[in-house]
Amino acid sequence: MTSGDFATLRTPAGPVPADAPHWNRQRHSAMPSHRYSSAHDRVALPLTGRRWPEARLERAPLWVPVDLRDGNQSLAEPMDTVRKRRMFDLLVAMGFKEIEVAYPSASRTDFDFVRHLATSGAVPDDVTVSVFTPAKRDLIDRTFEAIEGLPHTLVHLYTPTAPTWRDVVLHRSRAEVLDLIHDAATHMDRLAAARPGADIRFEFSPEVFILTEPDFVLEICNSVTELWDASPDRPVVHNLPATVEIATPNVYADQIEYAHRNLDRRDSVILSVHPHNDRGTGVACAELAVLAGAQRVEGCLFGNGERTGNVDLVTLALNLHAQGVDPMIDFSDIDTVRDTVSECIKLPVHPRHPYGGDLVYTAFSGTHQDAISKGLAHHAEQATQLGVDEGQAPWAVPYLPIDPKDVGRTYEAVIRVNSQSGKGGIAHLLHAHHGLDLPQAMRADFSAVVQQATDAAGTEFSPQQLFEQFRTTYLEPGIRGRTVLTSLTTEEVAVDKHRVTCELAVDGGEPAEYEGLGNGPLSAFTSVLAQAGIQVDIRGYTEHATATGPDSPAVAYVQCRVGDALWWGAGQDTSVLTASVKAVLAAVNRAH
Ligand code: KIV
Ligand code: ZN
Repeated sequence: MTSGDFATLRTPAGPVPADAPHWNRQRHSAMPSHRYSSAHDRVALPLTGRRWPEARLERAPLWVPVDLRDGNQSLAEPMDTVRKRRMFDLLVAMGFKEIEVAYPSASRTDFDFVRHLATSGAVPDDVTVSVFTPAKRDLIDRTFEAIEGLPHTLVHLYTPTAPTWRDVVLHRSRAEVLDLIHDAATHMDRLAAARPGADIRFEFSPEVFILTEPDFVLEICNSVTELWDASPDRPVVHNLPATVEIATPNVYADQIEYAHRNLDRRDSVILSVHPHNDRGTGVACAELAVLAGAQRVEGCLFGNGERTGNVDLVTLALNLHAQGVDPMIDFSDIDTVRDTVSECIKLPVHPRHPYGGDLVYTAFSGTHQDAISKGLAHHAEQATQLGVDEGQAPWAVPYLPIDPKDVGRTYEAVIRVNSQSGKGGIAHLLHAHHGLDLPQAMRADFSAVVQQATDAAGTEFSPQQLFEQFRTTYLEPGIRGRTVLTSLTTEEVAVDKHRVTCELAVDGGEPAEYEGLGNGPLSAFTSVLAQAGIQVDIRGYTEHATATGPDSPAVAYVQCRVGDALWWGAGQDTSVLTASVKAVLAAVNRAH
């Protein structure tokens, strides 16, 4: 059925497929899906006996951020030297050791930035700077001009090799493309040889590797390995990009494993991958590619990059962290990383972005909050038992894949309250922010109050708003209600015998003096209330200090039967006794 605002949506338009099971009533849509062919029909997959499904991710690959080249090429407003430098410094500070910094022959800005790096001392000695070049002699010359003086460089040559690119873009046969690559690779070799002592290594990318015939990929890469005379001491990088992602990650993994098992001089080749995220599976492609033999991953922080982006290095690295594998990159202040990236690329990071988004360590749902609240308390106990810092204790808190503190977040935003929330989360916030530890039985009572308020407001409640709700519901009636206490003294007249003397204004009347006896001060006070015509039976009572130290305020919670119903009240005072009396009065005034 289409209607109103959705009149433009024509699906589902067709019949239910004849062979559909009775429980699936989906209809054929009007989408022209027949225009596209399966990845399996577009490229051969010669791999047999795949091994990657049995492999495990046990160490971090070499991460190579390409934010300053591929990421930068995708920006409406490419980075200038100042923004590039800031991004570069961030990448260095995080611990990246190989950084693709520019496409120097493509723009003056990129060329100038490489010169800036070469002359400003910005590059630590253990960091290799990579630069990108097409296979054209004059552009390679310009690239080498840019890197003059940099101590460790990687010159990254790329050439389109996939059939459509050969036919439509380059108008060259396979043999001609191979010649073009050989000519460029030879030229690079010559230029590097002319700078003895400079540490210049090479990288090659067959563009749209995933659509290039596997035998052609091997022919090109193996001949380039040979031409550059790669050795374990001076290995070549073969970077196999999923330039435009077209298949499920298992297909990429098969393609990578095939290359891994068939590339020549394997110990002299660093097998690199460069996934993009067109299908939204860039991270999965990279992870399976590493299982399949990739040793190096190119990507961008938070997945910036052309179209749907390059693979996201933050997610990849922290996925390892979450599996107990050191990512070898520092994410201990993820918000600084995120904000710096956002400033440099002038794009926001989505609030639900894995690991870095504003909302990713937050639970609104009641059941999740309850579990998290219990999980955090359990975590603290476990740490104490093990005698280790909480930040070092094994992590097993429900719904939080990693400890937010690992990435510099606090627990403050972990639980946030709206109409979806439950008693556990509300109690957690009152405890964390206001030191109130509501008795279990009171939590449901207060949660119903909050539920009504948040439903009516339709918005989130901050910890302060929650406390306000608590105050007006349970504390305030003990101070300003129909029955008001204006003075109170107590004394223990004998063992287990207490006297309360007080002045009480009942039901808006004039204050009057009362005196009551009981086996405790509270029971003496209920006898005062009885004299004033208010029958109260105290059914539950707890109190605690809200801070440490002798003058810290106490809070008391009581549940009273007043008439036919049970009522909760609370009182806060530096005297426990006054807090308790206020709590009883609050329950009374709530009932009347
Ligand atoms: O996506 C890509 O193919 C690239 C290069 C590695 C050619 O950015
Ligand atoms: Zn790319």
